[in-house]
Amino acid sequence: MLPAIQIMPSILAADFGDLRAECHRLVEAGADQLHIDVMDGVFVPNLSFGAQAVKVAVGAIPLNVHLMMINPGPYLDDFAKAGADTISIHVESNCDAVEALRNIRALGARAGITLNPKTPVEQVFDIVEAGLADEVLVMSVEPGFGGQAYMAEVEEKLLVLRRRWPDLDLAIDGGIDDRSVQGASAHGANLIVSGSHLFKQPALDEAISILRSEAEEHQFDLVE
Ligand code: DX5
Ligand code: ZN
Repeated sequence: MLPAIQIMPSILAADFGDLRAECHRLVEAGADQLHIDVMDGVFVPNLSFGAQAVKVAVGAIPLNVHLMMINPGPYLDDFAKAGADTISIHVESNCDAVEALRNIRALGARAGITLNPKTPVEQVFDIVEAGLADEVLVMSVEPGFGGQAYMAEVEEKLLVLRRRWPDLDLAIDGGIDDRSVQGASAHGANLIVSGSHLFKQPALDEAISILRSEAEEHQFDLVE
């Protein structure tokens, strides 16, 4: 059975001046999880939030924390304590991924491993095969900024992962709108991150529901 489609708005595109209200608005609008982008200014050329923002976002739905950090290891405890339900590290970061993923689980969170657009999918095979990841996050833009164009060439990686691991939670992140979500979902993504597109729409609830129905309608089918 394929894992269900879930919509994960990225709060990077929210109004930081009232983050708590923005998170509440997303929950009310039907989001399944909130995606929180942590940037360290080294792994990516931008800064965003720390664990304090995770505390602010704690509410009715799970928090999916995406660590774009060169050295996430020493901060895992802070993010878990702040209320992260899933913590994803990058396979390109300078930490021992196996150790970090084990630590994330030991802290009581779900563990995720993320791949940049140019990183070969094979780099996460051993990790997933060993059962160390609850989620694989495939980047469809170079990480660091919202509002970039979707890179359809990463869809091949989704397909490879979905065919090998039909039950895996597979996230797509970057440039997702009503159109690009179709290809991402058709190639196997079930966790749909969307930032700038959602926040540009006049009605968030409608925007989330359209994204969900487009994803569901085009969802990868194992018998295809
Ligand atoms: C990019 C972040 C994404 C970003 C997505 O570095 O990891 O999560 O917020 O934003 P959009 O949907 O605008 O590409
Ligand atoms: Zn992200």
